[in-house]
Amino acid sequence: EGEVYRYYADGEWRVSASGKSVAIVNPTTRLTQYRVQACTQEEVNKVMETAKVAQKAWARTPLWKRAELLHKAAAILKEHKTPIAECLVKEIAKPAKDAISEVVRSGDLVSYTAEEGVRILGEGKLLVSDSFPGNERNKYCLSSKVPLGVVLAIPPFNYPVNLAVSKIGPALIAGNALVLKPPTQGAVAALHMVHCFHLAGFPKGLINCVTGKGSEIGDFLTMHPGVNCISFTGGDTGIAISKKAGMVPLQMELGGKDACVVLEDADLDLVAANIVKGGFSYSGQKCTAVKVVLIMESVADIVVEKVKAKLAKLTVGPPEADSDITPVVTESSANFIEGLVMDAKEKGATFCKEKGATFCQEYRREGNLIWPLLLDHVRPDMRIAWEEPFGPVLPVIRINSVEEGIHHCNASNFGLQGCVFTKDINKAIMISDAMETGTVQINSAPARGPDHFPFQGLKDSGIGSQGITNSINMMTKVKSTVINLP
Ligand code: G3H
Repeated sequence: EGEVYRYYADGEWRVSASGKSVAIVNPTTRLTQYRVQACTQEEVNKVMETAKVAQKAWARTPLWKRAELLHKAAAILKEHKTPIAECLVKEIAKPAKDAISEVVRSGDLVSYTAEEGVRILGEGKLLVSDSFPGNERNKYCLSSKVPLGVVLAIPPFNYPVNLAVSKIGPALIAGNALVLKPPTQGAVAALHMVHCFHLAGFPKGLINCVTGKGSEIGDFLTMHPGVNCISFTGGDTGIAISKKAGMVPLQMELGGKDACVVLEDADLDLVAANIVKGGFSYSGQKCTAVKVVLIMESVADIVVEKVKAKLAKLTVGPPEADSDITPVVTESSANFIEGLVMDAKEKGATFCKEKGATFCQEYRREGNLIWPLLLDHVRPDMRIAWEEPFGPVLPVIRINSVEEGIHHCNASNFGLQGCVFTKDINKAIMISDAMETGTVQINSAPARGPDHFPFQGLKDSGIGSQGITNSINMMTKVKSTVINLP
C-alpha cells in the first residue's frame, strides 16, 4: 500500500509533485495491488520539453548505434521476463504462461524492429526529372526518411508491454523521442519494461513514461503542441482522441467485432478449435478475438456441440494457476459483459440445446470471473450481435447463405479482422474480397502476429496500418533535397 511506483522522466525515476497516486486494483483479489504516480500537467509539459531536446541529438545518432541500443534493450527485456510477467498476472490477470510469452514476444519484436529499421531507413531514393513532360534531365531529387519528433504512445491494458514496444521500437529506430502513457491496469509492468530501456543506456530524456488519470492528463497529452505523432491502441477513447488531436499523424487501433464465417464444407474440428482459441484466450480480451460466429445452419448444431465440449474442459480460475479463463480486467467490464448476456437471454438467445444436449451451460460469475459461454441463436436485434463484450462470451448467429454472413460483417461499424473456414479456396478469396475488414484469415482465427505482418482496421476499428515495417514508415516523413543543374 505504502509504495508508489515512480514515473520516468529525463532518465530519472521521479515522484510527482501532485502528492497523489492512482491505485491499480488486482482483477482477481479486487484489492489494491500497486500504486503509481498521478502526474500533473506541469510535469507533462516538462517531459515534452526534455523529449524534444533529446530527440534532436538522437536523430543525429548513427542508425546502427540506435539499432545496437534496441538490441540491448531487447535482451534485457527478455532477462527480466519473470518479474514483468508477474506484474501482468497481478495487474491484468493474464494467465502466467501468456504473461511470459508477452514479454518474450516483446523482446523479439524490438530486435526485429532494429533489424528492419537499419534496412528500410538505410535506403533512400534518387529521382530524375526527365520522366515528367516538359523536363530535361537537370534535376536530381534525393529523398530519405526522417523522424517526426516526439511520439506519444498509448497502449491498452491487454498488452501493456507488447503493444507499448510495438510503438516504442519503431519510434526510436526512426530517430524519434518517446512519451509513453501506459494504461492504469498494466502501468507497473510498463514501468518495468521502461526500466529495461533505461538499463540499456538510451540517452536521458529520450524515453519518458508518465502515469496518471486519463481524466487529468489524457486530453492534455493528446492535445499537447509538443506531440508530433500519436500511436494509440484501445477502445472508443481513440475516436475522441482523433477528433481532438492536432495536425499530426495518427495510428489508431480501436475495437473490433471479428466475425468467424463457417461454410458447410469446412473442417469442423478445425473450426471448433479456432473458435475456442480465438474467442476465449485471455478470456476474450483481445481486439482480434473472434467476437461473432456466423455459421451455416446445416453445420451449426455439430459445431456448437463441439465448441461446448471444449469449453467444458477449459480451466477457470486465477491467473497464477495459469487458468485458461481468468477474471476480466475490472468490475465495470464484468458488469458490461453481464449486461450483454442478459439482454441476449431476454431476447431469446440460448445457452443450452434444448433436446439431447450433452453440454448445458449456464451464465456464471464470481467477482470479475465469468465462466466461458457460447450464446446460440443470437439474432440481430440483440446487442451482443454488434457490441464488443471483451470477455469470455461469444454469440453464434446461424446463417442460410454466404451473402447473409457477409452482409452481417459489413453492417458492423467495426472492421478489424475476420476469418472464414472452408476448403474451397475460390469461395474463401471471394469472401475475403467482400469483407470490409483490414485483414481476413482463411482457416484460422484472427491474429495480429507475426508482428511484422500489416495490421489495420477499417471504419471505427482504426486509422493507419501497424506491423513493424508499417509502423517504422508511419513514424517518419519523407525529406527531399533537389539538386538543380544549370
Ligand atoms: O488486442 C489487440 C491486439 O493487437 C491483438 O493481438 O492478435 O496478438 O492477440 P494478438
